[in-house]
Amino acid sequence: MNVILCENYDDLSRNAAAMIETYVRANPTCVLGLATGGTPLGTYQKLILGHEQKGTDYSRVSAFNLDEYVGLEASHPQSYHTYMQEHLYRYINVDAIRQYIPNGKAVNMEDECERYESLLDEIGPPDIQLLGIGENGHIGFNEPGSDLDGLTHTVELAESTRQANARYFPSIEDVPKRAITMGIGSILKSKHILLLASGSRKAMAIKRLVSEEVQSTFPASVLHQHPHVTLLVDRLAYQLVE
Ligand code: F6R
Repeated sequence: MNVILCENYDDLSRNAAAMIETYVRANPTCVLGLATGGTPLGTYQKLILGHEQKGTDYSRVSAFNLDEYVGLEASHPQSYHTYMQEHLYRYINVDAIRQYIPNGKAVNMEDECERYESLLDEIGPPDIQLLGIGENGHIGFNEPGSDLDGLTHTVELAESTRQANARYFPSIEDVPKRAITMGIGSILKSKHILLLASGSRKAMAIKRLVSEEVQSTFPASVLHQHPHVTLLVDRLAYQLVE
C-alpha cells in the first residue's frame, strides 16, 4: 500500500483529482469506480474545475458507483443517483448511458446484484476505484463480518453506519436499513484502488488499516491483498499512525 500524506483536505482532494484525470487523459475510454459520502466531495469539485478549465473530456468514460440504498427511488434527494448528479454528473460530460449505479428499487434485488456484477465484468473492471472508509472499517457498504470474496449483494447497514449517514436525512428513522453494494471481491477486481481518508474522525480506522492483518472484522484490511492501492490521507486522519 502506497501512502501519500497530504497537508489537509484540499491538498488530498487535489491529489485525488489529479490521479483520476491522469487516467482519463491517458485513456479516454477508461473505467472509473466512484464513491459517495462526504470524503470525495472535494475531489469531485476539483474534477469539475479540471473539466471547465482544462477541458478534461469524460464523453467516452464509463463510471461505476459502489453502492445505493435499497428502497430509495433514483430521484429521492438522498439517493446516490441524486448525489452523483448533484455533485458531479451535471457538471461534467460523462454520457448518461455510461453512468452505472445499482438500482435500489429493483423488483428482484438478487437479479439486480447479478446484473450489476456482470456489467462490471463486461465493461470494467475500473482502472481506478475511489473508496472512502467507514469508522468501523467498511468499504462500500461491506460492514464488519462481510465475506472477503463477496460480489455485489444486499446488506443490512450497521447501526453506526446509519448514525453516521443520518446527517443527510431528516431523522435517523429515515435512513434506509438496507443497501446494495459491490462486494469486497468486486472491489478487489479494480486495477488501482485509491482510498481517501480525511479528518480526525477517521484516525482510528487509518491506524487500524495500516497496522492490522487482513480480517473480516475490519473489511478495509483486505486492501493489503491488492497489488496496487494508494492511501491518500491528510494529517488529521494519519495522526495516530506517527
Ligand atoms: C460511499 C461508500 C461508503 C463511504 C464511507 C465513508 O459510496 O461506499 O463506504 O465511503 O461510509 O463515508 P464519508 O466519506 O461520508 O465519511
